[in-house]
Amino acid sequence: MHTIAVNSPSNIAFVKYWGQRDSHLTLPFNDSLSMNLSSCVTTVEMDVLDDPSIREMVITEYGTDSPRPAREGELRRVTEFYTVARTFLGSDRDFGFRIRSANSFPQKAGIASSASFFSAMALAFARAFEVNLEPKRLSVLARLSGSGSACRSIPDGFVLWHTGTGLDSSSSFAESIAEPDFWDIADVVIVVSSGEKKVSSVEGHMGAPSSPYFRARQLGLPETISDMKDAFLARDLSTFGPLMEQEAINFHAIMMSQVPPLFYWSGATLDVLREIVTMRAEGQEAYFTIDAGENVHVICRGSDAETVRGRIAAIPAVKDTIVNYPAVGARLV
Ligand code: PMV
Repeated sequence: MHTIAVNSPSNIAFVKYWGQRDSHLTLPFNDSLSMNLSSCVTTVEMDVLDDPSIREMVITEYGTDSPRPAREGELRRVTEFYTVARTFLGSDRDFGFRIRSANSFPQKAGIASSASFFSAMALAFARAFEVNLEPKRLSVLARLSGSGSACRSIPDGFVLWHTGTGLDSSSSFAESIAEPDFWDIADVVIVVSSGEKKVSSVEGHMGAPSSPYFRARQLGLPETISDMKDAFLARDLSTFGPLMEQEAINFHAIMMSQVPPLFYWSGATLDVLREIVTMRAEGQEAYFTIDAGENVHVICRGSDAETVRGRIAAIPAVKDTIVNYPAVGARLV
């Protein structure tokens, strides 16, 4: 027996991936752009065992001290990913595993805990099968976990996930477009609920094309991404921020209008958005984006993070805040 330990960050998408052109291969309809989060990290320890019949996992959730056994569905996804990884890595070995996973943030609440977990598992499995993959290939493996955004937690810093072409799995990979220290910005996560979301993103992706606005967003995205990349390279938050907010609103408009609809915003979400708009009117630059959950990510200059955090933390509905800076991707510990 030996143990493999991995740390991997969650990531926040500035341009979201929503809808899959192939759900089996987790291939997206569009490029997405993200940043790895320094304080939203999953730690995975995996005991690699000779007996392949042992498949166990315990999870220590945010805010708790003691681990709980993984639910049947959680363990099944890991076991399925093990089989995918074995085929992808071309190994005929078989091993058992005992996994201990811990999150530094609420899981399944729109902070992409599946991204940090499955990117960590991709690296852990590659290591256990003794295959050294360069980050691009490793990102493809992470994508094949079924949590597509996991591929963006493999490379460092600021990351672009390429749509790829047709059903060519290897063409849809994530790569770093800049190291973490390229741009001193922060993502202040505003936790208004740490309850688990009711509809998984797997189900949500399936419904995306049924929105009458889906096609309009797809048509607009190449220009949005190109403009956001330019603003990013110029470290121009005043241009980048409004484009990112508009993209987040478009993404939620799709979810609210797809069949069946998905409403993630709560009253507390809107309280936070209003405060951000007020702050901006007063001269404090800060911009929002929201994933598939009711919590809000506030993007601001790194030097403004504590001010922004303090101000939004004062809203009664806010339960917690997590200040993140750009971070490296998945790493062996
Ligand atoms: O990573 P998945 O396949 O579970 O999908 C989640 C996608 C969003 O987090 C909602 C958006 C994104 O691009 O991160």
